[in-house]
Amino acid sequence: MCGIVGYVGDRPVVPLLLDGLKRLEYRGYDSAGVAVVRDGEIVTCKAEGKLENLVARLDSAPLAGSHGLGHTRWATHGAPSERNAHPMVDARGRLALIHNGIIENFLPLKRRLAEEGWAFRSDTDTEVIANLVSERLDGDLLPAVLAACRQLEGMYAFAVLSTAGGDGHQEIVAARQGPPLLLGLGDGEQYLASDPAALLAHTRDVVFLENGDVARITPRSVEVFDGSGEPVERRAQRLDWDPVQADKGGYRHYMLKEIHEQTQAVQDTFAGRIDFATGEVLLEGFAAVDERLAAASRLHVLACGTSWHAALVGKFLIEELARLPVEVDYGSEYRYRHPIVDEGVVAVGISQSGETADTLSAMQAARELGAAALVAVCNVRGSEATRISDATVYTHAGPEIGVASTKAFTTQLVALYLLALHLRRVRGEEPDPALAGELAHLPQALDRVLASEREIRQIARRYHRARDFLFLGRGINYPIALEGALKLKEISYIHAEGYPAGEMKHGPIALIDPDMPVVAIATGERVYDKVKSNMQEVHARDGIVIAVTDRDPEDVEDVADEVIRVPRVAEWLQPVVNVVPLQLLAYHVGVRRGADVDQPRNLAKSVTVE
Ligand code: F6R
Repeated sequence: MCGIVGYVGDRPVVPLLLDGLKRLEYRGYDSAGVAVVRDGEIVTCKAEGKLENLVARLDSAPLAGSHGLGHTRWATHGAPSERNAHPMVDARGRLALIHNGIIENFLPLKRRLAEEGWAFRSDTDTEVIANLVSERLDGDLLPAVLAACRQLEGMYAFAVLSTAGGDGHQEIVAARQGPPLLLGLGDGEQYLASDPAALLAHTRDVVFLENGDVARITPRSVEVFDGSGEPVERRAQRLDWDPVQADKGGYRHYMLKEIHEQTQAVQDTFAGRIDFATGEVLLEGFAAVDERLAAASRLHVLACGTSWHAALVGKFLIEELARLPVEVDYGSEYRYRHPIVDEGVVAVGISQSGETADTLSAMQAARELGAAALVAVCNVRGSEATRISDATVYTHAGPEIGVASTKAFTTQLVALYLLALHLRRVRGEEPDPALAGELAHLPQALDRVLASEREIRQIARRYHRARDFLFLGRGINYPIALEGALKLKEISYIHAEGYPAGEMKHGPIALIDPDMPVVAIATGERVYDKVKSNMQEVHARDGIVIAVTDRDPEDVEDVADEVIRVPRVAEWLQPVVNVVPLQLLAYHVGVRRGADVDQPRNLAKSVTVE
């Protein structure tokens, strides 16, 4: 989704904006641009395609100014092109504006403005906001932005600078209704961004804007107002992310770095939350909801993409360990199926970013329909999912920059295991040190599976030309098959499907031929023999079987062409280990095929529009 950066202060503005945009590249984009105020005039520079195209333009025609805005665009209204790239300058040339979101009533607004003589040079809804603000601009930017917001319907985060106020007046005004926007606090300088990753190199003190907020920043002040222009208090927070975590740290890609960070991230997610002696789980902030969790008759778990796969694993964990029924929904589907919600329902939203519009809408719908409580499982402190929830289990993955989610997923599984144990306890079971103690084996198991990267790279080399892949798993590993298929699709653009292994004979078996690799997850005791039979069925039809197993290779060599060994851990935590070779396989296949694994085509890291 679109990336937003802004700076007011005394340092050269364009390098700071470009640095911020570089750090937002992972969000996915198709064009980029900057705007500054120079000698009382708005000057912009934009380029279609990658950021390096913009950098090349700025190298040949450097731009200096007193304050500025930068933007990476992910097209919604209007094709990806220089014409539609932000910042958008209003028809009178008095302001520049950048935006993330969708203005639903942009057509009637545009029609009205055009009839009144306002010229439009792009196909975007953003230009409508620029002209709306300009229409009301009479010396002071803030009231003009407030007036424009009152006319907008839809979701937006935008920032605007203008020539109003005259030379040397450094001011940016920003508004938020939906997509994230935060202010970075400095000494004699302030920043603005859509994502903490853009700010970490400069400051960790931030203010997250809330829906309906309008902020004004100058080098020495930060003010936040509500929609009617009344000042509101917004507390500054200190981000606990280390700026180094947001760099590649010597790895070729963020995705590979983040795959390797999983040992630490998983450990950080359970460390300090388990008393291994008593088996007690300590979830900060849950006292407020424990009574409602104890009384709940079922959970509605809401998420998208990889987080939805975590939700499916969570269903197994919570139903088995806490004996509480769980329904799992896609965020984008929940609102449209008239879910039955009463005071027995507790809704759980799972989101790495905490800003996914579909998940947030579903969580809000659950609240409005009468859910007793809202709980988030989230990686980003201060994000919207955490703010609208009554309690949050934070995953301690650190910043995840690779578009394909890896360490966020494994830490979500650990957070859900903690939540399952917590629910078990509040619903009357004694804490069980054996169940809690299983977590302690995970870091070593993850290290061991990561050490097999070389063999997985070789498997990737052998099969990277395949056109289709099938991933099979059963029980708690069925969502892992789905996740393995999703990773491969995203990173390598190979068509892949995840399937419950037992369902193969009801249809997908027709696809099996000597060119189709089938990755089968065969671990644990419960369904091992069944999955082995499914591998046999593929093998008998000359399909290629890649087995992910915790058994000796000899156990599966009669049915598998390739064997990836994984260490055995407790059944409930085995998915945390099993997904790692699938992430590595997707990564190495993607790299072999020359794909841009950190920024796959058409994908965005945080999907902040519905
Ligand atoms: C896949 C991926 C996406 C996200 C999905 C939800 O690798 O990253 O499918 O999982 O967009 O994002 P969050 O978890 O931020 O709500």
